[in-house]
Amino acid sequence: MRTSNNKKLDKLFVERWSPREFLSDTISDEDIETIFEAAHWSPSCFNEQPWRFVYARQQDDLEKFRSTLVEGNQTWANQAPLLIYVFSKKHFSQNDKPNRWADFDSGAAWMALTLQANMLGLHTHAMGGYDPDKAFTVTNMDPDKYDVVCAIAVGKIDKTSNRESQSSRKSLDEIVFEGISD
Ligand SMILES: Cc1cc2nc3c(=O)[nH]c(=O)nc-3n(C[C@H](O)[C@H](O)[C@H](O)COP(=O)(O)O)c2cc1C
Repeated sequence: MRTSNNKKLDKLFVERWSPREFLSDTISDEDIETIFEAAHWSPSCFNEQPWRFVYARQQDDLEKFRSTLVEGNQTWANQAPLLIYVFSKKHFSQNDKPNRWADFDSGAAWMALTLQANMLGLHTHAMGGYDPDKAFTVTNMDPDKYDVVCAIAVGKIDKTSNRESQSSRKSLDEIVFEGISD
């Protein structure tokens, strides 16, 4: 279990992690709806809500989604009962101008989805390792209108399984800076 000395920090942030061992147990409709509802409350530039989620939970859909993943991801993501693709709409709906915040906003939505999943006893694992062309084909999304941002595996994990290598983090000194430097 990851820990932090900061007693004010909610454990939700520290205890989230990306497993590669999923149980094939199905996820209830209610839980699926709940994680997407969490995502859809995320903030976005001009409230555009550029995120789109296409998911697979039926075996034939899952097989198609898995076929889009790079081999290294297929080896472990094959067990996950829910696979999701996150897309973001490239242009603002109001004026068709490029939305350069779309991927940022979709990233916020993915994190909301993940934290809500954790609260429901589920885990997620994001994947950048997929073939984008195949992702558009199997999801029937239009590459002229959307960016493919990420794939996500979701499921329960075997609580007795060992957590893999604990991913470390840079220190705050390396990533947070106060004020104006000379
Ligand atoms: C956008 C994104 C793409 C990622 N792509 C992959 C991937 O293709 N395969 C994989 O095994 N993990 C992937 N990861 C998982 C990261 O390696 C992992 O989040 C990071 O090492 C931190 O570990 P933690 O999530 O357990 O804290 C990805 C994560 C993100 C956010």
